[in-house]
Amino acid sequence: MVFSAAGNESMSRQVQEQLDQWRRRAEAGGGAKRIESQHKRGKLTARERLELLLDQGSFEEVDAFVTHRCHAFGMADQEIPGDGVVVGTGTVHGRPVAVFSQDFTVFGGSLSEANAGKICKIMDLAMKLGIPIVGLNDSGGARIQEGVESLAGYSDLFLRNTLASGVVPQISAILGPCAGGAVYSPALTDFILMVDGTSYMHITGPDVVKTVTHEEVSSEDLGGARVHATVSGVSHFTAADDAECLAQIRELLAYLPLNNAEDPPLKACQDPPERRAEELDSLVPESDDQPYDIRQAITAIVDDGRFLEIQESFARNLVIGFARLGGRSIGIVANQPAVLAGVLDIDASVKGARFVRFCDAFNIPILTFEDVPGFMPGSQQEHGGIIRHGAKLLYAYCEATVPKLTVITRKAYGGAYCVLSSKHIRGDYNVAWPTAQIAVMGAAGAAKIIFRREIQAAQDPAAAEEQKIEEYRQRFANPFIAAQRGYLDDVIQPSESRQRLIRALDLLATKRDQNPPKKHGCLPL
Ligand code: HXC
Repeated sequence: MVFSAAGNESMSRQVQEQLDQWRRRAEAGGGAKRIESQHKRGKLTARERLELLLDQGSFEEVDAFVTHRCHAFGMADQEIPGDGVVVGTGTVHGRPVAVFSQDFTVFGGSLSEANAGKICKIMDLAMKLGIPIVGLNDSGGARIQEGVESLAGYSDLFLRNTLASGVVPQISAILGPCAGGAVYSPALTDFILMVDGTSYMHITGPDVVKTVTHEEVSSEDLGGARVHATVSGVSHFTAADDAECLAQIRELLAYLPLNNAEDPPLKACQDPPERRAEELDSLVPESDDQPYDIRQAITAIVDDGRFLEIQESFARNLVIGFARLGGRSIGIVANQPAVLAGVLDIDASVKGARFVRFCDAFNIPILTFEDVPGFMPGSQQEHGGIIRHGAKLLYAYCEATVPKLTVITRKAYGGAYCVLSSKHIRGDYNVAWPTAQIAVMGAAGAAKIIFRREIQAAQDPAAAEEQKIEEYRQRFANPFIAAQRGYLDDVIQPSESRQRLIRALDLLATKRDQNPPKKHGCLPL
C-alpha cells in the first residue's frame, strides 16, 4: 500500500475530529439539562469541582472514553464517555494527588462495573506513586441496571481503600447522596467532609426506615452534614457549599505527607520560634473548677495562630487538629476544660484514638495538652463500653512511635494521666505548667476516701474535711512530685511554651523507635 502526504494529513484530521467529538461528549456528561438541574440544587459538576480542588491547569484526565458494558434495560443505547466518573491526577499546592469525581448528571453518578474500574485504576496508581487519593462523591449508589457487577465494583473499592489505609492519605468529600453500602468506601478513608444541606450519608434511606421501624425521618435528619458533624462523628469537616469544601481539602492536604514513607512538608515559618506568649501565664484560672478555652493556648503557641480543627462540633470535650510549630506539621490533641471539664468519655476517646493513629501512620508528631479530671463516670458510659473505648485511646498513644510532646496545663488525674502521652508510655518530651496537678484523683474526692474515719470522728466534720482536702492539695496539687521522679522533663512557664516545644520538636526530628514485629496488633475495637 502506498501512502501519500495528502492522505496522511486527511487521516490525521479525521482522527483529530473524532477525538474532539469524543472529548466533547465526555465533557458534556449527562447534558445541559441535567447540569442545569445540578446547579439549581447549589451543586457544582464533577469537572467544576476538580477545577477548584486542583492547581489551575494541573488536571491530567485518564479513562475519559471508558463506557459501561451493560446491555440490559436499554442501556446499550445510552453510552456516555467517562460513564459517570471523572478520574485522573493533578496537583494541590504543587504536590501530586490522585482524584476521582463522580458525575451525578450521568446515571445519577451511580457506580458501574466500568466506572468502578476507573476508580480502582487511579487508586492503584496512587499506591504505586505514593500519593494521596481524594474522592469527590455524588452518587445514587450501585448502578441498578447492572446488579452484581456494580456490587463487585464496590467490593473492589473497599479492598483498595483498606490496603491503602496507612500508606497514602485518603480523603472523601460527600457532595450529594451517598447511601447504602456505598457509604463504606468513604468510611474506610481517613477524612470525610460534608456539605451542609446538599449531602447525606446513611445506610438505609427514610423509606426503608419507615417500613422497618415506623420512624418518620427526613434524609437530612437521618444523615445530613449536621448530624454527622455533631452526633455520629462520621464526618470531620462541614462546609457551607462545594467551593468551601474543596478549599478545606486543599488546606488539609497541606499538613500531610504524600505517603507513609515521607515526612510532612516543611513550611517556611515567619512566626519567630522564640516568640513568647505572655497571655498564657494568666490563662489557667486559680480555681480548679473554672473553665477556660484550651484553643487559646493552642493558637497562642502554634505558628501564626493557625489551627485547623477537626470534628470541632463532635465530642467537644476533646479538641483535635493540625497546626505547625517552627514550620513542621503537628497533630494536636487537647482536653477542653470549657466542655464537660475536659473529661474523657466514649466519643472523645474514639475521636482522639483515631486521630493519634492517623498521625502516627503518617509521621506527624503529636502534641498533647492535658487538663483532664479523668474518665467520665456513670452507668451510661460504663454500659456503653467506656472501658473498651477508652482502651482505644490508650492503645493508640502506646503504639505511636512518632515524636510525642505533652504539656500538662492543669489536671492530670487518674488513668487519664497515664493515657494521655505520659512518660511511661513513651512520651518524648513531657512538661508541665506550674499550675499542673498530678494525682490519682481530685483533692475533694481523695480526702473523702483516705481520711473518711478521721473526718467522721472529728467534732466538726465539715471543717475537718476542708482541712484534709487542703492537706491533700498541698501535697499533690503541683507538678513537682512527678518532676522529682523524672516523669516530667521540666516545669516551664506557659509563656515560654512555644520556644520550648519548637526546640524539642527540632531535636526529635531524628527520632527512631519501633514496635515489635507482628502481623498487626489487636486494637480493642
Ligand atoms: C442507576 C440511577 C441510580 C442508580 C439514580 N439514577 N440512582 N441510575 N442506578 N443507583 C439515575 C436516575 O434514574 C436519574 O436518571 C438520575 O440518576 C437522577 O436521579 P433522580 O432520581 O432523578 O434524582 P434525585 O431526585 O435527586 O434522587 C437522587 C437519589 C435517587 C436519591 C439518589 O435517584 C435514588 O434514590 N436512587 C436510587 C438509590 C439507590 O437505591 N441506590 C442503590 C443503593 S444500594 P435520569 O436519566 O432520569 O436523569 C447500593 C449498594 C452498594 O448502593 C453496595 C455496596 C456493598
